[in-house]
Amino acid sequence: MQERAEGDAERPGRRVLVLNGPNLDRLGTREPAVYGARTLAQIMDALAAYGRARGVEVVWRQSNHEGELVTWIGESEGAFDGMILNPAAYTHTSVALRDALAGVRVPCVEAHLSNPAAREPFRHRSLTAGVCIGQVSGFGPESYRLALEGLMERWNAEGGGT
Ligand code: DQA
Repeated sequence: MQERAEGDAERPGRRVLVLNGPNLDRLGTREPAVYGARTLAQIMDALAAYGRARGVEVVWRQSNHEGELVTWIGESEGAFDGMILNPAAYTHTSVALRDALAGVRVPCVEAHLSNPAAREPFRHRSLTAGVCIGQVSGFGPESYRLALEGLMERWNAEGGGT
């Protein structure tokens, strides 16, 4: 029988990498009717505070460059217990990001502010979701928090995680 204390996933020491793709540096001014009024820094700071209160360290980055995101994903193995990825437009185009995710043993949740499935047809396909443990879309900044909850659930289900 395996025993596990309640709240294992909340024990200190968990690290989550949050990666944000192109144009998300312009949140707050970019299409606010679609993406809201909050800046990426505001959203990430709130997520980091949410994680901190649960013993999870949130490290976040943003890049407009596909290769930089690929490099960061590759470097995540061994350094992070989980990943949240909003690939932005690369969701719909990037075999390179998909391959990078498939090549690391770091559970990843795909997150989107908007709900791509309810938008233009070219946004309906995600190349990256199939190599993630799950996807959260359409809840604005809350999508990131729900993605973090999903990772914590996964760690608990695995009985202690990495
Ligand atoms: C997005 C959705 C993508 O289709 C779009 O290209 C983005 C943002 C979102 O968070 O809703 O840049 O990933």
